[in-house]
Amino acid sequence: MTSASPVLSARRLEVAYAGNRVLQLDQLDIRAGEIVGVIGANGAGKSTLINALLGWSRGRPAVTGDVTLSGRPVGRLPTHERVRAGLLLVPESRLVFSRMTVEENLTPAVAPVDEPGRRYYRRDDVYELFPRLRERRHHLGGQLSGGERQMLGIGRSLMMGPRALLLDEPSIGLAPMLVTQVLQSLRALASAGLAVLLVEQNVRAALQVVDRLLLLERGRLVLQGPAAEVGVDPRIAQAYLGAHTA
Ligand SMILES: Nc1ncnc2c1ncn2[C@@H]1O[C@H](COP(=O)(O)OP(=O)(O)O)[C@@H](O)[C@H]1O
Ligand SMILES: [Mg+2]
Repeated sequence: MTSASPVLSARRLEVAYAGNRVLQLDQLDIRAGEIVGVIGANGAGKSTLINALLGWSRGRPAVTGDVTLSGRPVGRLPTHERVRAGLLLVPESRLVFSRMTVEENLTPAVAPVDEPGRRYYRRDDVYELFPRLRERRHHLGGQLSGGERQMLGIGRSLMMGPRALLLDEPSIGLAPMLVTQVLQSLRALASAGLAVLLVEQNVRAALQVVDRLLLLERGRLVLQGPAAEVGVDPRIAQAYLGAHTA
């Protein structure tokens, strides 16, 4: 289900730390129903991209460029207002509330706003997506496996009515089977109309679910295309998939 106008767009996005430019991206568009993957070596600027879209950073970078969400310019808004508008980062899995049960973690944090293009998941919707969480609903967040915590983090974001969902290396530390399960859940969410930006170091796993893949090198977009094409590009195959030269 792809629609013409992008849900999330960025134009001429540039980020610099202390005059040192670490990201320069002319154009990024993610449509409803689409998963766009971003890969690249450590330090390539992947997290910087996500943070710039959200207007957040650990440091004090100079950020320029335009960000729009469902046609609305959000690039001048503080992070919490972008979140309220439906631009949601799935938190690192260690950030779920470890002393609350799964059920308590899945308590609505915001009152749903009735806007087209937004779906606020309820707890039962999250359980339907991740049956494992229903089984674990009385367990504390701190007792969950990495994969379960990741599901919980996604679930919490879904309850906030995302238009676009951003994930920064969600597969880190997960058992291979759970990597597949978590990433496949993104496929289901995209099919239901969400726009997804997935930063992944597990390129092989990412290629199984993304529609398009972007390769960043030193803050620049050096390659992009449909997963099927990019996945067989020698630059990707050799550097990121560990493939032998043909
Ligand atoms: N808070 C910061 N202060 C200064 N430089 C930073 C900061 N955060 C990231 N950088 C620099 O920006 C570049 C991109 O980093 P990052 O986006 O974290 O890369 P990736 O997520 O692809 O590993 C790196 O050179 C990194 O050193
Ligand atoms: Mg990073």
